[in-house]
Amino acid sequence: PAVSIFGVPTDVGAGRRGASMGPEALRVAGLAEALAARGIDVADRGNVKGPRNPWSGPVDGYRHLEEVVAWNRAVLEASTAELRQGRMPVMLGGDHCLAIGSIAAVANHCRESGKTLRILWLDAHTDFNTHAITPSGNVHGMPVACLCGIGPSVLTELGGTSPAITPAQVRQIGIRSVDQEEKRMVHEHGLDIYDMRYIDEVGMKRVVEEALHGLDDDTHLHVSFDVDVLDPSIAPGTGTPVPGGINYREAQLVMEMIADTGRLGSLDIVEVNTALDTGNATAELAVDLVESLFGKSTLMRD
Ligand code: ARG
Ligand code: MN
Ligand code: MN
Ligand code: MN
Repeated sequence: PAVSIFGVPTDVGAGRRGASMGPEALRVAGLAEALAARGIDVADRGNVKGPRNPWSGPVDGYRHLEEVVAWNRAVLEASTAELRQGRMPVMLGGDHCLAIGSIAAVANHCRESGKTLRILWLDAHTDFNTHAITPSGNVHGMPVACLCGIGPSVLTELGGTSPAITPAQVRQIGIRSVDQEEKRMVHEHGLDIYDMRYIDEVGMKRVVEEALHGLDDDTHLHVSFDVDVLDPSIAPGTGTPVPGGINYREAQLVMEMIADTGRLGSLDIVEVNTALDTGNATAELAVDLVESLFGKSTLMRD
């Protein structure tokens, strides 16, 4: 399908500045060109607009809630317009709070078109905090909870229908950092989590098979790719790095196996923080992986 790229240059949901430079880093790394070279109809729609980062402290457990809402309204609107035209929105973060808007849009699109939504959340973190338990107040640690209806109504009701999704629609891969109270939350809500220990024990192939089990022709697959799922040794340019992440080969395998399903319907690429990167290595790696996600493989060339 045709792809529409948007930059979402925000770091209002993060605890460190610099993810706002992610869209440009991914452009400089050649994302649009790489997709075009695969014969994909790709349009770079430029950046969605939102407020500056006030860099203030948490209020009632949220930092910059007003700004997070404004950015997500813009993301929701941009995504919805592309989905209605039958195009695939690709949101370049920016911090992971933008997934509230992108997935709310996709969830509405699926409700309207009778599709089943499956979300693959590639991340070191479960991002299932609430204002009551967050250690940081950073909303990029809360998008999955918000989408599942747990959070401030300005975010849980962003797309109109609340909850936007249910935990049963989500599979999380690469998890290795969950805050103490957050663990209880994900357990209570039954999130399907493939953590690093499970990946080590059974291998990435089986993990992805299990996570993608049950997809059919009516499934819209949304991939939310937080680059901190990757090991920091290969992806240093991110604000909340956690040791022990997935390696290059595991990452390629995930992407190739998703491509094989032919069900990819929308994508977020988030948390590229150029201020912390080594050259532009993290964005370049992300582009390399996204090529695989769109079907580039070693042996099969079309
Ligand atoms: N769990 C931590 C928090 O809530 C870190 C979240 C990191 N999230 C991310 N999208 N990088 O503050
Ligand atoms: Mn995340
Ligand atoms: Mn993360
Ligand atoms: Mn669709």
